Amino acid sequence: MSSQQVKRDLATVHLAIDNLPGTIAGFYSLCNFTVNANPLPEPVGRRLPRTAIPAHLLGYLGVSLDYKNQGLGGVLVNAAVDAAESQTAVAASIGVVVHVLDEGLVAWYQQIGFQRIPEHPLHLIMTMADIRRLRAVER
Ligand SMILES: CC(C)(COP(=O)(O)OP(=O)(O)OC[C@H]1O[C@@H](n2cnc3c(N)ncnc32)[C@H](O)[C@@H]1OP(=O)(O)O)[C@@H](O)C(=O)NCCC(=O)NCCS
Repeated sequence: MSSQQVKRDLATVHLAIDNLPGTIAGFYSLCNFTVNANPLPEPVGRRLPRTAIPAHLLGYLGVSLDYKNQGLGGVLVNAAVDAAESQTAVAASIGVVVHVLDEGLVAWYQQIGFQRIPEHPLHLIMTMADIRRLRAVER
């Protein structure tokens, strides 16, 4: 699925490689995306144009069985967020959106800094404003 998306210029896939055995430990895909201004969480959703709003989509995220529960998933999400943030120097984005598979993962994304998009319980966003704020605190 991911390789088809890359071939068709629909997403970029980033791999985490464990160099010693040379195996893929995890991966994520990222692409440009648009969201509707209504409903985006406040305060970022306030007074946005009623046109499609530019964003990034964290499409696929996966960690191989041998590498689960060691923090790699969080590292990959943060790498995707950092990649999206660095791109905003060239083309703007309101934030990184993720569509989670089930309610169990919502809390996991929330502790990273994502928040629910109102009216879409399984859609979350980490706004670019929050990304910059969090990164400023971390520096
Ligand atoms: C979700 C996933 C990427 C997390 O990767 P990871 O490297 O194990 O994550 P981390 O080590 O950073 O975090 C582990 C925590 O995530 C929790 N977690 C993992 N999968 C979860 C799930 N499906 N629902 C709820 N919590 C989950 C673990 O219980 C653990 O919690 P703890 O820190 O309180 O013990 C990985 O489990 C995976 O590849 N899952 C299958 C694909 C998938 O669901 N992708 C996400 C699509 S939105």
